[in-house]
Amino acid sequence: MDYKQYITVVQDWPKEGIQFKDITTLMDNGPAYKSAVDEIVAYAKEKNAEIVVGPEARGFIVGCPVSYALEIGFAPVRKEGKLPRDVIKVEYGLEYGKDVLTIHKDAIKPGQRVLITDDLLATGGTIEATVKLVEQLGGVVVGCAFLIELSYLNGRDKLNGHDVLTLMKY
Ligand code: PRP
Ligand code: MG
Repeated sequence: MDYKQYITVVQDWPKEGIQFKDITTLMDNGPAYKSAVDEIVAYAKEKNAEIVVGPEARGFIVGCPVSYALEIGFAPVRKEGKLPRDVIKVEYGLEYGKDVLTIHKDAIKPGQRVLITDDLLATGGTIEATVKLVEQLGGVVVGCAFLIELSYLNGRDKLNGHDVLTLMKY
């Protein structure tokens, strides 16, 4: 499927010079959203993923339906102060700023095969931090799946050879 027809490119948002890729118009279209999720489900199956991990907020939109379809768990990665129990944290650089991501210490079992999902691979800062969190807990990252990759930002370089699936490239 040509998913790009469902993405709305918003000029100069959230600031001048950024061409924001709005995925809500893809999510609005049931068959397109299902087809995108199904492709990632097939990838997760091929990689024998045992749990899905996604960073808030848009990583949930991609990862939770995959987890549901495969009847495997989903572990949320959240910004600091959002998870109620013991966490580990990693600081990371964003396309527009800096932040901290956290995961519950008991979210991943050592050796567990983890699929990481997010909507967008831009500079790769978010996913690099998510990989670090998973690996610090002993998880094995078997793949990273995204709807969109902004190739010109070279986010893949931050993934140290981890396998990557992206459904659209800009
Ligand atoms: C956006 C997007 C990715 C990340 C990609 O998330 O959803 O998670 O940026 O950028 P990067 O590859 O340069 O790290 P954002 O932090 O805006 O938050 P949101 O998902 O909660 O909207
Ligand atoms: Mg995000």
